[in-house]
Amino acid sequence: MDVLVVEHPLAKARLTTMRDARTDSAAFRAALHELTVMLIYEAMREAPLAEERIHTPVARTTGFRLANPPLLVPVLRAGLGMADQAHKLIPDAQMGFVGLARDEETLQPTPYMVSLPEDLAGRPVLVLDPMLATGGSMVHTITLLTDRGATDVTAVCTLAAPEGLRTLEAANLPVRVVTASVDERLNDSGFIVPGLGDAGDRQYGAV
Ligand code: PRP
Repeated sequence: MDVLVVEHPLAKARLTTMRDARTDSAAFRAALHELTVMLIYEAMREAPLAEERIHTPVARTTGFRLANPPLLVPVLRAGLGMADQAHKLIPDAQMGFVGLARDEETLQPTPYMVSLPEDLAGRPVLVLDPMLATGGSMVHTITLLTDRGATDVTAVCTLAAPEGLRTLEAANLPVRVVTASVDERLNDSGFIVPGLGDAGDRQYGAV
């Protein structure tokens, strides 16, 4: 499984803001928005292009568009904080939604919403979720996608735990991961260490 860690200094600075417990909710959301732009930019680096002939005010030339814009799938709640920025960078993208809440005792994802196109054959998909912790939520989400025919999935996560990456790899799904950091480990409560806490709670408040 390919894992791309985006090591850019600007990405590290935004991630540091998100990690810092003193960062308030508005500043956390702003840093996540900016980091998302950088992660999506890197995730799309190899995207195939279609050529088109255009006129500039001066001459005819060849321009480029995405040949096959991806489906964007934010995982609610926390992934909502990545959705608008990804959509701004890829305005032609369609968006689907998956709602999952992780049970705090069992750490298993409980689904509460799925809104996805029925047929995803031949369509690249970007799954947006700030956290890959145990990997249970990502495996669940990608299985929903592959059940609909997806074969080209990129998980875009601000942070990943080694345990979650191992779980994703063992699930043998057609996925690559783009992240700003692979952290040290999970703690006994299933939180990434050092991590940033709970990305949903830090954006929207605890429920
Ligand atoms: C968090 C996070 C991921 C998931 C990661 O969401 O945003 O979706 O947990 O954990 P996992 O890899 O162990 O499955 P949470 O369930 O806290 O919901 P929220 O986004 O509504 O806060």
